[in-house]
Amino acid sequence: MWFSILLFILSVFVILNILLAIVHYSTKGRKYWLLKKVPYQEPCPIFGNFGPMFIMRRSYTSMLKYFYNKYRTEKFVGIFQARRPTLMVIDLDIVKNVLSKEFSNFSDRVSVSTDTRREPLLRNLANMSGAEWKAMRQIVTPTFSSAKMKAMFPLIADCAQSLKNTLLKEPTDEVDIPKLMVRFTTDVIGSCAFGVDPRSLQDPDSPFLLMASKMFRTDRATILKRYCRTFFPRLFKLLNLRSYSADVEAFFTTIIRQVLTERRNTGVQRHDFLQLMLNVQESDTAFSMTDELITSNSFIFMLAGLETSSTTLSFCLYELAKDRDLQDRIREEIVDCLDRHGGALTYEAVASMRLTLQTVTETLRMHPPTPLTTRLCTAPCTLTGTDLKIKVKDPILIPLQCIQRDPSYFPDPHRFDPDRFQDDLNPPGFIAFGDGPRSCPGARFAQLTAVAGLAAMLSTFTLEPCARTTPSIQYDPRSVMLKNKGGIWLSFKPLETNT
Ligand code: HEM
Ligand SMILES: *[C@@H]1O[C@H](CO)[C@@H](O)[C@H](O)[C@H]1NC(C)=O
Ligand SMILES: *[C@@H]1O[C@H](CO)[C@@H](O)[C@H](O)[C@H]1NC(C)=O
Repeated sequence: MWFSILLFILSVFVILNILLAIVHYSTKGRKYWLLKKVPYQEPCPIFGNFGPMFIMRRSYTSMLKYFYNKYRTEKFVGIFQARRPTLMVIDLDIVKNVLSKEFSNFSDRVSVSTDTRREPLLRNLANMSGAEWKAMRQIVTPTFSSAKMKAMFPLIADCAQSLKNTLLKEPTDEVDIPKLMVRFTTDVIGSCAFGVDPRSLQDPDSPFLLMASKMFRTDRATILKRYCRTFFPRLFKLLNLRSYSADVEAFFTTIIRQVLTERRNTGVQRHDFLQLMLNVQESDTAFSMTDELITSNSFIFMLAGLETSSTTLSFCLYELAKDRDLQDRIREEIVDCLDRHGGALTYEAVASMRLTLQTVTETLRMHPPTPLTTRLCTAPCTLTGTDLKIKVKDPILIPLQCIQRDPSYFPDPHRFDPDRFQDDLNPPGFIAFGDGPRSCPGARFAQLTAVAGLAAMLSTFTLEPCARTTPSIQYDPRSVMLKNKGGIWLSFKPLETNT
């Protein structure tokens, strides 16, 4: 099977790399940060500073946390990802400069193996660079405007209603929360980005859901492949590996093609992202919105939105099950807001659920599903406030989660406390959606999805820990995305007063 072949080739490659690395580190490579007078973490050959991660003892994020705490008083620290020197920024002012003020000098993300001829789905907003990114972003940003969100909201509300029905139907004594939440967010993204109803809440064996979960698999072979892509991109290409298997690509490409054909033939319009991109295609703009671009962008919406939103909801439910007072306060707010809007889950009702949104925000602060982001230098620059010169193509790493767990921005940072966002939902230390022109365009959409989901669940059920609930959250070291080791299991009890 290809797994053992890959393992073999990888071993040969690793040996070759050891030789290369010995040469590299005995010459000038090792001195890279020393010569730049940047504090740095002494690397070991081949994996640089990430050896422990490669053998799966520690997660990538726990390594970052270690560097962050060790060099907390510095403005940045130099690390080595394999042989590639990367600047990890620690100082929040410099983070903000890189992301916002000096954006024109750092407008790309470090992208891994973006051979878009081989893998056309990778030609998407998140992976694009330069002028192409800018043009695409200008097309995509308006599709997330509040007017568009408001028009799209009924699609989200339908999925929330379906989530509630599923809970009323299925046994709820011991619910595998991430599994249920993925079914909810798959329906939301399927409906809003692909223009279809995946029916994953009604049917746990829905093909759409199975294909989507295939994309987020974390078995050993997939992890090995990911590491290979990140650390040895040339080997990845050489072996003709793909980020996503051919059947996943074919499945989603076919769906989009069918939906596009159907819309063109019937002229039926729907308030979803697909329609908005289709409208761009039909209008006369300089930007040529091809079917391929519509497809790869629907794909990135799924990739960027599905698991992030479901993880957020899962951690949020965990925290609410643990804190009954908070849960009751939120339920009171939800019931009250629904009452004031005729009992229906409308955009206005959800937009007025302030404490619920604060709770989602606090979840994102503590457990940001994307714990780091990167930038690539695109124009030579001297970091403001320092004399460090950055060259074009130098990679920068921003440890989002480390900053959000720093007591200088959030006192008592390991305590779950939505009230910290009472006065300001977007304080400087909150960067779970990134910041600046390249920040997450889906932030508002994700918030609406999460709050709508919570409103549907909490207005009907109380949440309690069950026998399988872990006493605390411990991140699974095998996953780059944050996951609780041992899963999240909770029990839903129907509210007596509810009919
Ligand atoms: C709770 C849910 C989510 C979180 C925590 C999240 C977080 C992030 C973060 C941290 C980034 C990188 C920002 C930066 O580099 O400054 C990002 C980028 C992005 N996100 Fe999200 N996201 C979420 C949901 C979504 C959803 C629902 C969508 C789409 C429907 C989406 C689409 C994107 C796209 C397309 C990018 C790339 C933007 C670009 O490069 O211009 N995200 N997201
Ligand atoms: C590029 O896109 C692929 C899939 O669409 C994704 O797995 C990868 O993380 C992206 N790279 C960046 C730098 O966003
Ligand atoms: C950013 O790049 C421009 C050139 O494109 C340069 O003039 C400017 O000094 C750079 N910014 C910083 C802070 O170095």
